[in-house]
Amino acid sequence: MIKYLSILCVTLHLNTMAANVNPRVCIIGAGIAGLTSARYLKEEGIHFNVLEATKYIGGTWRYEQRVGNDEYGLPIHTSMYKHLRTNLPKATMELHGFPIPKEYPSFPTREMFYDYIKAYAKYYDVEKYIKLLHNVMHVRRVENKWKVKYKHIPSETEYEEDYDFVIVGSGHHSKPNYPNIEGENLFKGTIIHSHDYRVPDPYKHRKVLIVGAGPSGMDISLDVAEVSKTLVHSHHSKVNFRTPFPSHYIQKPDIKKFNETGVIFVDGTFEEIDDVIYCTGYQYDYPFIHESSGLTISPHSVTPLYKYMVNINQPSMIFMGLVVRACLVVALDAQVIFGLSTVIGLQTEKSAV
Ligand SMILES: Cc1cc2nc3c(=O)[nH]c(=O)nc-3n(C[C@H](O)[C@H](O)[C@H](O)COP(=O)(O)OP(=O)(O)OC[C@H]3O[C@@H](n4cnc5c(N)ncnc54)[C@H](O)[C@@H]3O)c2cc1C
Ligand SMILES: *[C@@H]1O[C@H](CO)[C@@H](O)[C@H](O)[C@H]1NC(C)=O
Repeated sequence: MIKYLSILCVTLHLNTMAANVNPRVCIIGAGIAGLTSARYLKEEGIHFNVLEATKYIGGTWRYEQRVGNDEYGLPIHTSMYKHLRTNLPKATMELHGFPIPKEYPSFPTREMFYDYIKAYAKYYDVEKYIKLLHNVMHVRRVENKWKVKYKHIPSETEYEEDYDFVIVGSGHHSKPNYPNIEGENLFKGTIIHSHDYRVPDPYKHRKVLIVGAGPSGMDISLDVAEVSKTLVHSHHSKVNFRTPFPSHYIQKPDIKKFNETGVIFVDGTFEEIDDVIYCTGYQYDYPFIHESSGLTISPHSVTPLYKYMVNINQPSMIFMGLVVRACLVVALDAQVIFGLSTVIGLQTEKSAV
């Protein structure tokens, strides 16, 4: 009996080992999440591809003057604006094992940080694994594989490949979350979302309303206030800001409604407004994830995930960077290490038990 059992174990062990001896991993996106994943998978000698929809690595950190769609008709991914500096001190944004240049200021400019990301990719020599201009269109679970369908954008050539693991690193600061405010359609001024904010120049001598006091709302308020005539800031944050706002800055509560010329706030006050910038955050957007993944995705949630990360129904799929209130760059590194040992590693370990 014991002998029989051990033979059975060995057989099981070998079978599972055979299936996973050389797992294939698909990494979606070549931002910090994808690059960090690529670096560690390369070090472990695991077979992987990185599929990146744009022509560039670095994700949201690569500034583009353009907004709207790119030359291929795809939405511009980046949400960077020209004068952005990091909102965290550089020490909390260091990619593990790759020191941020000493000469960088405490809060580097976006160009500096983007150069640093590119240098990381070069140093760990991961660029050759990245397929640029390859847009992931469909990720389906079929039997015990992930079928990943993607398209080479310029030639419109489609591919479908089987993978054992999928690491989703497509970011979640790209699809605007627009509020739904009464009378907005009446308003005659301009309205944009912070995703499409690039430079303050169009707001020179204007009366501008910024909606929201998250990191973008605070930062863009200061950028616009440099040139605007008046800066009206509508938000419901309870934080006592120590930000040194100029004298033409007016704080307001939430918006009740728009009319043709301005905005009525919930306290009943009215302000004439020329332009509005919604800094109202982003939505989750994973149009390529098929329902066979076992996930339910809505604009503000992805469920069920273990530790905001591992697809519970299909644990060979990992989502990167959904943790909240974290130093994201450091968190992404930790997530890859966790994923490697617990998700990708465990598959082979488990079979030996
Ligand atoms: C304006 C702004 C300022 C920020 N400032 C800071 C800061 O100061 N400090 C900080 O720590 N964090 C900051 N962040 C958070 C930022 O999101 C992270 O720093 C980090 O860039 C996240 O990397 P990522 O790889 O997860 O996503 P992204 O950088 O968004 O990269 C995702 C990549 O996936 C690609 N992709 C998307 N869909 C597909 C598809 N279907 N097929 C193929 N490829 C696809 C995209 O083209 C993109 O290249 C900021 C974010 C924004 C928007
Ligand atoms: C918008 O509402 C304000 C406040 O009620 C009012 O003073 C203003 O005239 C209105 N504008 C128009 C065009 O109706």
